[in-house]
Parts: sequence; C-alpha cells; structure tokens
Amino acid sequence: MIAIIVHGGAGKANSKEEIPGRIETCKYAAKTGFKILKNSGSAIDAAVEAVKIFEDDSFFNAGKGTYLNKKGEVELDSGIMDGESLKSGAASGVKHVKNPILLAKMIMEKSPHRFLISEGAEEFAMRNQLEIVPNSYFITKEKREIYLKKLNKIQESDTVGAVALDKKGRIASAVSTGGTPFKEEGRVGDSPIIGSGFFANDIYGAVATGIGEDIMKAVLSFRINLYIGKGIEYAVEQTISDLTKLNGKAGIIALDKQGNMAYKYNTEMMFYGFMKEGMKEPEGGI
Ligand code: GLY
Repeated sequence: MIAIIVHGGAGKANSKEEIPGRIETCKYAAKTGFKILKNSGSAIDAAVEAVKIFEDDSFFNAGKGTYLNKKGEVELDSGIMDGESLKSGAASGVKHVKNPILLAKMIMEKSPHRFLISEGAEEFAMRNQLEIVPNSYFITKEKREIYLKKLNKIQESDTVGAVALDKKGRIASAVSTGGTPFKEEGRVGDSPIIGSGFFANDIYGAVATGIGEDIMKAVLSFRINLYIGKGIEYAVEQTISDLTKLNGKAGIIALDKQGNMAYKYNTEMMFYGFMKEGMKEPEGGI
C-alpha cells in the first residue's frame, strides 16, 4: 500500500474566494507525492516534494508567503522524521533558506545533529549548496498588510505538512511553517519540535497545524501513540478531543502502516488533500 496525506494549514479563511485554489494546491501536492511513491520513491522524498509545493506557493504560511514577525522579518521553521530509522531533522529561525524543508532533510541525512537554528542552520545550508534568498523574497503584499495591522492571531491557515507511506512500508512526516503572525523575534512554535509538530515511527506518522503554544501543551503528534491501539481514526479523534479539553486550537493529519488515513481539527477549517493506492485522482477539502 502507498499513500500520502497533506495539509495546507488549520485556522480560519479571510476570504472565501481563496478556498478552492488552496484545496487544489493540496490535491496537487498529494498527487505529486503520490507519483513519487508510485515510481518506488521513498516516503521521505514524497513528503518533502509535497511540502516544497506549499513552500513555493505564496498563499500558504510556509516559505514564500510567510507571516512577518514583530521586526517585519520572516523566520522559518521545518522538521522531518523517518519512521523506520527514527532519524529526524529540524531547523528553526532561518531567514534566507528558500526551502526550509530541504534544510530539515539535509540536517537529518548529512549532519550528526537533529536540530539546527538561526545562523548556524543557514551556514549549514550554504555549505550544502541549498538555495539562499534575501528575506524580502518571502514577504508578500498580503502578509505585509497583515503585519501593518499588527495582527497577532491566526487569521487564515497556518503551517503545511505531509505524511507518506512508501512501497517498502516506511512512513515519513514533514512540516514547514513561518509560525504565528507578529511573533516575537526568536519565537519557536511546535512545528520543528519533534513529537509536537511532527512524529513518525513504524506504526504511524503525523503532522500538526495550529497554534504552536497550544500544540506543545498536548505534544500533539506524539499523543496519537496513547490511543493508536484502537486504530488511527479513533486515535486522531481522541487526540483532538484532549486538545479541546486543554482549550487548544489545532488540526492534525495522520497515516498508519496499513495506509489508513485520518485528519481532524477543532479550528474553523483545515485545508487537506490525500491520495492512496486505488484512487485515480486525489481528494481534498477543508
Ligand atoms: N503551528 C505553527 C506555529 O505555531 O509556529
């Protein structure tokens, strides 16, 4: 069984007009990852390529189109985990790496460490020939307007992610975000934190989206472990129910080794897409 599930963020839509386009991008990201899996590619490569699509699309809060921090700059976080080896890679506070998900993958594969931040992460990216861009590359007119209003609540969607299962039965989870709007410089949310923003082992993989400070209270992605014995759907349902009891707002996508998928959110909406063996086209929604 091969399968992939992606999300383009949980939160609230500012404009109804953008919704169909965002759902299409989720479907396209799922289809792109699925093609890699179908051609015997790895779950890691499928999840990375899917996340990269969101990073390059200025409508999502990851890569280009990220929310600005209080200083009017963009700071990016990313994370990835290979469920087979339990190796992971994460980066935080980067300002010039065009695709932070590629940096997370490189940290996982080429560094002896699991988590690099700020200038050190960027120097590592440069040494490994990742594309470097000025901070202004990430800043769109729309996000600058939100910055000028000093909005610090999630207005639209937040964070992007993908979980994939390949032909060899390996699961991978990948996540990328610009964090919350008008955040303090140096603020780190859940996304690059293993267990909170992302997790994968040989049973399931998950990626969270929503308010990082809430997600960390529940250690959301790892929390699924508490309930996985009763199946992925039950586990995801229960995980979001726990978060609601903690007054937290977020969404999560998950996929198990059998290719069963689940998603759940207690925000107004969450953009998602998925594709698995037997499907001719991807499905998506909010
Ligand atoms: N969920 C992304 C963040 O809070 O940074």
